[in-house]
Amino acid sequence: MDEGKLIERILQLKEKRNAVILAHNYQPGEVQDIADFLGDSLGLSRKAAETDADVIVFCGVHFMAETAAILCPDRIVLLPDPQAGCPLADMVTVEALRRKRAECPDAVVVCYVNSSAEVKAESDICCTSANAVRIVEGIGGRVLFVPDQYLGRHVASLTGKELILWPGFCHVHMSILPQDIEKLKREYPDAKVVVHPECRPEVTALADEVLSTSGMCRYARETEANTLIVGTEVGIIYRLRNENPDKTFLPASEKAVCPNMKRITLEKVLHSLEDLSPQVKVPKDVRLRAEAALRAMVQVD
Ligand code: 13P
Ligand code: SF4
Repeated sequence: MDEGKLIERILQLKEKRNAVILAHNYQPGEVQDIADFLGDSLGLSRKAAETDADVIVFCGVHFMAETAAILCPDRIVLLPDPQAGCPLADMVTVEALRRKRAECPDAVVVCYVNSSAEVKAESDICCTSANAVRIVEGIGGRVLFVPDQYLGRHVASLTGKELILWPGFCHVHMSILPQDIEKLKREYPDAKVVVHPECRPEVTALADEVLSTSGMCRYARETEANTLIVGTEVGIIYRLRNENPDKTFLPASEKAVCPNMKRITLEKVLHSLEDLSPQVKVPKDVRLRAEAALRAMVQVD
């Protein structure tokens, strides 16, 4: 089927199923184009929570669809490719978290949304890259921060708090090196540098702003600068160029590609709407506890 026909079929079925298509800012361009909402993890979970659609097609990775399923238990949540996972989220398990918790029983467990429902269920409060600083600022005692050590370090540096860090990392953001930014800065000395907090500290040290993906989109709209060096997954460049055709966006590294995000295709979106599958479901006991950690986040934010 050609792309035009595929899109036409998707839009017809979306109507018929009363579905909404949510897509993360790293999705392939053709998937971004069919989305009802594009956003970061926080924005998309908010959209999921407030939708009156019967079906949510989540174009992103598993933990994002799972977050939608936790917040909207009475909706059908589809992840068009069930293999679209997040290696960072897999770096913390319930068993390992329980062991660590036993070593520091007084610590409040703050869990980055890039984590499984089971891990969220073991945590006191969730956060995303957009609100992590606000969440940690609001906590009085010691904090155990899982699983991304670099977001944790960034939050520690901004809040002045000493966090107990988990050794997790995102291999995609790790592929962005300080030399990449320095080289581009030499070529474009007037460019502003925006990077994601999952980047290495040597990279965030070179940035004008450290932002979530939707924070970057907002910054791109508002800045006076005409050229931006963008330190995150390259899929966001499509959205930035679309929304700001007069500005120049340079990926800090062409190597920063998340293969899991790229698993979603128009064909798979169509099949998921045809078959109402693959669905993401969370068992009720886990769901209720994970929801409490997510709601605790929403209350602070
Ligand atoms: P954002 O919430 O900033 O979009 O980040 C999600 C993510 O997976 C970053 O790698
Ligand atoms: Fe996970 Fe990194 Fe991909 Fe984000 S970019 S979904 S953190 S692997």
